[in-house]
Amino acid sequence: MTIIINMKDKIDERKLKVAARLIREGKLVAFPTETVYGLGADALNERAVKRIFEAKGRPADNPLIVHIADFSQVHELAREVPEEAEMLAKKFWPGPLTIVLPRREVVPKVTTGGLDTVAIRMPAHEIALKLIELSERPIAAPSANISGKPSPTSAEHVVDDFYGKIECIIDGGETRIGVESTVIDLTEWPPVLLRPGGLPLEEIEKVIGEVRIHPAVYGKKVDLAKAPGMKYRHYAPNAEVIVIEGPREKVEEKIRELIAEFKRKGKRVGVIGSGRYNADEFFFLGNTVEDVARNLFKALRHMDRAGVDVVLAEGVEEKGLGLAVMNRLRKAAGYRIVRV
Ligand code: TXA
Ligand code: MG
Repeated sequence: MTIIINMKDKIDERKLKVAARLIREGKLVAFPTETVYGLGADALNERAVKRIFEAKGRPADNPLIVHIADFSQVHELAREVPEEAEMLAKKFWPGPLTIVLPRREVVPKVTTGGLDTVAIRMPAHEIALKLIELSERPIAAPSANISGKPSPTSAEHVVDDFYGKIECIIDGGETRIGVESTVIDLTEWPPVLLRPGGLPLEEIEKVIGEVRIHPAVYGKKVDLAKAPGMKYRHYAPNAEVIVIEGPREKVEEKIRELIAEFKRKGKRVGVIGSGRYNADEFFFLGNTVEDVARNLFKALRHMDRAGVDVVLAEGVEEKGLGLAVMNRLRKAAGYRIVRV
């Protein structure tokens, strides 16, 4: 049975205590963060963490992020904490930044996908922070979606994927950022960006200087031992997704052309973007890159439900949050990209 706790309007500490107790008992609790919903379990409980992998259908070598509510927990989880980690944490935590550090033995290898490092983040969401505090455990939480599907930005998305399969879902309304956290590896020098996300790379570089972008961020096929999450197909709706990249006007022109072409072939076409189109389904993402990030996964899930054959997606400029948006879009498209 799945308990759904509604906490959209205000935090109910008594109900959160129930969820926290479930975490302590090794159960699975989905909860909101500022990025996307997480599927949480006690990060130090091997059996509980194994259940996360089973529920998601997640490959065992794809490590989880461990969520904390207080900086002191970093020292309990990580063997070494470089000065840069402290600088970043001070500036950006709680927030959409995940830091990879050398793992301490207390963190089971199941949690870290067999790696000798551990990814840590302090989420900027009152419900998440309170849940971690009350459970008195670090909470391992991947995005609360079935492996390969778009990440959930509302409790409804979590219900769609996990109702009846996990013990509890805390509904905190729609998430504010909408793409997952930025993941940075500080076990190497210079630091490596493993996944662009809710915190723009430019902000990080202001604090610790130049960061190397892992080539897999752009979909290059390389040695993925360090960033196992990147080798799996992701965010993919059932429809064929195509990203159209280039200057704004040319992109819109190309999309209109492709709509006509696919319609001639008898296909149902969906478009996601900010322009206006005459497609079978259209999901308006918004006018700013923040809006686009916030609505992206919802749009992809919408297209699935609408049952279109093809989704055409407008590309955005790859700066600020745009780097994360393009990374997710290209993955969703399986790197089918049209450049104009
Ligand atoms: O915003 C987020 O990060 C959300 C919320 C729930 O916090 N969580 C999330 O988790 O997106 P997940 O599991 O969907 O993505 C975690 C990413 C994966 O790409 C994984 O490979 C990478 O972080 N990761 C985790 N631990 C790692 C490690 N030790 N070394 C390298 N990459 C790691
Ligand atoms: Mg995920």
